[in-house]
Amino acid sequence: MNNIIKFAAISTALSFAACSPAGDQIDRKVDELMAKMTIEEKIGQMNQLSGGYNTIEDVAAGRVGSIHNCVDAEEINAVQKAAVERSRLGIPVIVSRDVIHGFRTIFPIPLGQASTFDPAIVEQGARVAAVEASAAGIRWTFSPMLDIARDPRWGRVAEGSGEDPYLDALMGVAMVKGYQGDDLSDPTSMAACIKHFAGYGAAEGGRDYNSTMISERSLRNTYLPAFKACADAGAATLMTSFNEIDGIPSTGNTFLLKDLLRDEWGWKGMVVTDWNSSGEMIAHGFAKDLKHATELSVNAGVDMDMMSHGYVSYIAELVKEGKISEKEIDRAVRNILRLKFELGLFENPYVDPQASAKVDYAPEHLAAAKQCALESAILLKNNGVLPLEKARTILVTGPLADAPYEQLGTWTFDGQPEHTVTPLQALRKDYNVIWEPGLGYSRDKNTSNLAKVTAAASRADAAVVFVGEEAILSGEAHSLSDLNLQGAQSELIKAVRRSGKPVVVVVIAGRPLTIERDLENCDAMLYAFHPGTMGGEALADLIKGRVSPSGRLPMTFIRTVGQAPFYYNHNNSGRPCSGNETLLNDIPITAGQTSLGCTSYYLDSGYGPLFPFGYGLTYSTFSYSDIALEKNVLSKNDVLRVKCRLTNTGSRKATELAQLYVRDLVGSVVRPVRELKRFERVTLEPGQSAELSFELPVSELAFWNADMEYVVEPGDFMVWVAPDSDSGTPLDFKVE
Ligand code: NOJ
Repeated sequence: MNNIIKFAAISTALSFAACSPAGDQIDRKVDELMAKMTIEEKIGQMNQLSGGYNTIEDVAAGRVGSIHNCVDAEEINAVQKAAVERSRLGIPVIVSRDVIHGFRTIFPIPLGQASTFDPAIVEQGARVAAVEASAAGIRWTFSPMLDIARDPRWGRVAEGSGEDPYLDALMGVAMVKGYQGDDLSDPTSMAACIKHFAGYGAAEGGRDYNSTMISERSLRNTYLPAFKACADAGAATLMTSFNEIDGIPSTGNTFLLKDLLRDEWGWKGMVVTDWNSSGEMIAHGFAKDLKHATELSVNAGVDMDMMSHGYVSYIAELVKEGKISEKEIDRAVRNILRLKFELGLFENPYVDPQASAKVDYAPEHLAAAKQCALESAILLKNNGVLPLEKARTILVTGPLADAPYEQLGTWTFDGQPEHTVTPLQALRKDYNVIWEPGLGYSRDKNTSNLAKVTAAASRADAAVVFVGEEAILSGEAHSLSDLNLQGAQSELIKAVRRSGKPVVVVVIAGRPLTIERDLENCDAMLYAFHPGTMGGEALADLIKGRVSPSGRLPMTFIRTVGQAPFYYNHNNSGRPCSGNETLLNDIPITAGQTSLGCTSYYLDSGYGPLFPFGYGLTYSTFSYSDIALEKNVLSKNDVLRVKCRLTNTGSRKATELAQLYVRDLVGSVVRPVRELKRFERVTLEPGQSAELSFELPVSELAFWNADMEYVVEPGDFMVWVAPDSDSGTPLDFKVE
């Protein structure tokens, strides 16, 4: 029952092979091989190309260290044959792919996985992805994405774990463990790639690739903890990001890539650029040409170049000119070769072309994907209509009800829609379904079929409306400035409402949308994100009530896009809101300038979000009682122990997510109003209660302070055990 996640324990669970006897042996092998290599062969290892057969001659000539986007086992074997049998030293290539939330069996998008608050199911998802992708010959995935995302306009919020550094770290570590398994040399393991280093999610205005302005303290306190946790957990590789921070593009950022990652963290893995992010330093105006960009990225500490072609074209020249030292080249090649040895590619470069058929969509993979989708959907509103237990005939409508490709979400090159179970298919097993799509796709503005939908709803006991976003509307380069439901989807919900029948809305989307106006027109709303291959079955179980929803919001849901960015763990202004602020329509005409309270809020949308981080309902109710601290004066070496009684006060079995937050009241720099430090998913029968006990070492209250030191500052703190980031009654404690 007690499944409290111990962050420190998890982050040290994996260790580098490099620090072990096996690691020493690998280092010796790397040394021996490097002693035989020419400078050209070394440079070749630092080059990643995208494609398969068309790169074979480059591979045979020793000009390629890695191939990206090759997925066919026969093709991969042909490429490996060229590397192993035709290149002078027979060094295998490493094949990479963006396996982001599943290879064939698609799990919910990472943001949906984060909403499970269940690292175990997330780890399982990554394991399934590794088993399926490695069977096709892919041994390197560009995942997990650890970018903290506070602005839902940014399309890539879909690919990460949301806004909270603690949740981000736990989910990232779970994925690293799942991909890499216990041993990278196991043929079912894939090297993880933690990305994008760093600060990419802070893109100004949520516009992808945009500049960021992040102070070093904010980087360290907010954007880097997940990278550090995954680096400590043995993540094998890391990708630089496209953005610049305060004028320095990440791919040329020596502070990030050398001072911090190598010298301070002691990380020994391999660094790759993002796609042409070295070359893009020219567009940034940081490098004058590709040669200059190459010089900057190698010297900043980047080992492998993805697709700028700058490394193969210019490194040799730059070495001759003395602009890059051979030491930098050796560092990079050592990191690359070490990875290849760790993956066992020298012993085992080929893949069995029959292997995929044995593992793709295996029943246990589909079961895990369904479990993840079940835990991921968040119940945002329910006036009692859900679950639909008594209804016999239901109307199913909406552009996402039967959209097998769309419900897979972004970055699903290899998931095959014909394996998808859509909500329509699944609901047909439980109900007499009237199917009336209403709209053709999410952006459809054609309202000519809505009258038909109203009529069809009138014939049903209840209606379930599946709205949201097509897969293409979120993910890389898919930022939006308007987050209302696209097309005529809000009109569709209203059309169903006109029937007078109970209306359940299910949102299938890649990001938090601004759904306030739609909430008014429905009796219940489930937010499913893009739920993946088994999304339909999972949603049918929740709608029918076989399982109670247990997902919680991994990002704050805003009322209107003008509130972005919005996140729960913000600093306080000097004029925090009291909650009684005057709003636009209450302002008297000719009101005096100072009559509005002078606090930090919007006159039109108020102070609070629509739903806070951590929020989510279920089909039962829970009460928190007897919250108590073991002691309320602690030393820096103590452990804060908080107990609490949780009772299922409703009439259905359900899962609650008990969340522990703290606040450091006074710091040498302003501290966030709340920070998530622990959580526990607890499943209880009606009437059952459980005593929860949370343990938080005081050392985990440390932060980067005014002197840029990572310390616990003595003083007064508050702690909450609560169902979300905006409720609960705090208790006080002191650190001496
Ligand atoms: C660009 C994306 O930013 C990155 O996340 C991805 O891994 C690479 N392309 C490779 O496809």
